[in-house]
Order: sequence, then structure tokens, then C-alpha cells
Amino acid sequence: MSKIKVMSVFGTRPEAVKMAPLVLKLGQCPQIESLCCVTAQHREMLDTVLDIFHVKPDFDLDIMEEGQTLSSITTKTLGGLTGVFAQASPDLILVHGDTSTTFAAALAAFYAKIKVGHVEAGLRTFDKYSPYPEEMNRRLTGDIADLHFCPTLQNSENLRRENITDGIFITGNTVIDAMGYTVRPDYPFDLHALGDVDFDRSRVILLTAHRRENYGQPLENIFSAVRGIVERFDDVEVVYPVHPSPAVFNGAHAALGGVPRIHLIAPLPVDAMHNLISRCHLVMTDSGGLQEEAPAMGKPVLVLRRETERPEAVRAGTARLAGVERADIFEMACTLLDSQEEYAKMAHAVNPYGDGQACSRIAQAVLSHFSLGPAPDMFLPKY
Ligand code: UD1
Ligand code: UDP
Repeated sequence: MSKIKVMSVFGTRPEAVKMAPLVLKLGQCPQIESLCCVTAQHREMLDTVLDIFHVKPDFDLDIMEEGQTLSSITTKTLGGLTGVFAQASPDLILVHGDTSTTFAAALAAFYAKIKVGHVEAGLRTFDKYSPYPEEMNRRLTGDIADLHFCPTLQNSENLRRENITDGIFITGNTVIDAMGYTVRPDYPFDLHALGDVDFDRSRVILLTAHRRENYGQPLENIFSAVRGIVERFDDVEVVYPVHPSPAVFNGAHAALGGVPRIHLIAPLPVDAMHNLISRCHLVMTDSGGLQEEAPAMGKPVLVLRRETERPEAVRAGTARLAGVERADIFEMACTLLDSQEEYAKMAHAVNPYGDGQACSRIAQAVLSHFSLGPAPDMFLPKY
């Protein structure tokens, strides 16, 4: 029996976290030859995820440059994949989410007339510039894709609004599958790597901020609010794994370096990160992935953005949109730190984003597309 050749293509940390369990799942399917190609749009942050999940790429384009531009990521990915596709001739490629790797890989596959499956399809803000460039990356990828693996029902409805009606599967988000590998009640934290934070005496806020549309004034507002929070609450410590992008790293260190009880640390391996979420008091973030992970662990999330393409957790009550103005962020955090009642309203575990079976559904959907099995059931949670 000849196998279908499925190549997963990804390049950044969040794509790797969400694609690694799928690569492992595809590797277990006897009818599939699973190949993996990384663009390495991220380098160290990608490699640590690959190590943790024991995924060894078959192809590595190694494109990252310091301070890279959107054009350089896109053109290097297009050029590199042209050769990879010619060599490997996949029947289908799988891309994930909304990065520039995602869009450029989908475009390269279209040029080579290779089918495209889009994992984490259908997320939308309907604002072209926010998040930037992700909203346009995922829209363009959606237009190219033949198969659309939507985490939620709402994501599938977003696609239907764009007249995309075929090849849609509601699967849940693979990030919940990934947490099945990483989260352990007895996880051995390296407390030194966390800045020697005192979990016994402090309420720990986990902070991340890296989005391009937040560069400049919005990031400064976020940092100023966080500084105000530790000044107001002497039992609060902030752990901030700082993204290595110069626009983030330099601003974070200038604004928050040396401030007592604010720990600026290196990016954490994803197993440490997931277990830290489960141990912290509150998450403040502009990250996409953290908006999905924290609700699953019952941790309130203040979203440091003006909008979100992940409204399900806001509806379920575990996430609130804090925006990017200093006063709003400060007040919303103070409310949660002052009022046990307000905190309790948000601190309950909900899983609108997945049930840990997304990778199985995606593998089954791929097989069904090639007439090798029935279509999967749909992920339809009640929340
Ligand atoms: C990228 C994605 C964004 C995603 C984010 C996740 C695009 C345009 N942006 O943004 O959607 O939310 O990843 O983190 O696709 N760097 C390192 N080492 C690394 C990774 C990055 O030094 O392992 C530095 C490099 O100087 C690099 C810079 O960070 O040039 C920016 O990386 P880039 O991928 O362009 O942007 P991100 O902000 O990471
Ligand atoms: N993450 C990590 N270490 C860190 C910060 C984040 O492993 O120091 C993980 C996080 O748990 C999530 C993913 O990286 O799985 C999110 O990546 P990021 O915030 O960079 O991107 P986004 O999700 O916003 O695209």
C-alpha cells in the first residue's frame, strides 16, 4: 500500500508547541508518511520545543536573522520551500495559525499545486492591522487552504462568512493536546530560572508581551501599569519571560530592569511555562497561546490587547480584555488583586478550546480526505 505523504511546515515557537503533538500523531498512522520541515523563523525558541517533544525535522531552512523583516521571512520561506517541495513531493502540507511562515508556506504549496491543510483555521478579528500581520496571514492562508481545521464552532462560522464552506473540520485546538504532554502535578521547577520567585509568600503574576502592534507606546503603557501594580501590592511578584526580539527585549529591560519583585527572565522551555501557568495567580498577556492555555488551568487572564480572535474564554468568564492603556490595565489588575469575589468569578477551569483529541481528529480528517477512512466527529463543547 502506498502511503500519503504529509509534510508539516512551521517556524516559530507557538506553531511548534501546537504542531509537535500532531507530527507525533501523524507518525503513528500506518497510512501516512509524516515529514517535518521547519523554516526556523525562530531559532532557539523553536529548538527547545522540538527537543521537549522529541521531534526531529527532515528539513530545516534556518532562515532567522536578528531583527528580521516580514519581507525577509516571506521571501526566504518561499525560496527555501520551492526546493524542499521539489525534493520531497508531499501530497499535502500542514501549516499552522497565522505567522509569516504560515502564509509563505501556503503560498509556496499553491505555486507547486500541493494541497494545504490549515491547522487553527478561522480565527478572526476582522481588523486587517490588528493583530498585525497575523490577521492578514490567516485570511490569505484560509483562501489557499483545501482543509480547514477549526478549533471552535465560531472559527468555522467565521470561514463560512467568507464563503469558505468545503473541507471544514471542528477539531479543538492542538494546544490542549500539547498540555497533555507537558503538565505534571510534580513538575520539578528550576526556581533559579524563574528569578528565585517566592511562591510561598507571593501572588505571582505571569506576564508576556511581544506583539508587533504593541511595539512602542502600547508596550510602554503595559510596563508602566505592571510597575504600578508591584508598587501597590507588596505581596505580588511578576515573572516576565522576555521575548528576544530587540523591540521587546530592549524596551522591557529599560522600563522594568532592576525593579524589585519584577523578574525579567529568559524565555522558558514550554514544559516549564505550562507548569508555571498552573502555579501562578494571574496571567497578563498579549499572546495568543496563553489565552488558550490559562483558561484550561483555571487561571484568570487579562488580555493586553484591544481585541481578541479568541472570544470564547471572554464569554466563559475566565479572560477579560484589558486593552493597552495604562489606567485600564492597572485598574483591572487591582480589581482582581483586591477582591476575592472578582477573582473567584474568573478562576474556574474551562476548555472551550479543546479536549486533547484535536490531533486524532486532524489525522482522521486527513485520511478521510484521501478516502482512507471516515470523517472524524466534531469538537463541540458546552460553555
Ligand atoms: C513571530 C510571529 C508572531 C508570533 C510570534 C510568537 C510573524 C510575523 N510573527 O513574531 O505571529 O506571535 O512569532 O513568538 O510571523 N528572535 C531570536 N531568537 C528566537 C526567536 C526570535 O533571537 O528564537 C529574535 C530575532 O532577532 C528575530 C526577532 O526575534 O528577528 C523577531 O522574530 P520574528 O519571528 O520576526 O517576530 P516575532 O515577534 O517573534
Ligand atoms: N511560551 C513558552 N515560553 C515562554 C513564553 C511562551 O514556552 O517563555 C509558550 C506559551 O506557553 C505558548 C506559546 O509559547 O504555548 C505562545 O507563544 P507566543 O506567546 O510567543 O506566541 P503567540 O501564541 O502569541 O503567537
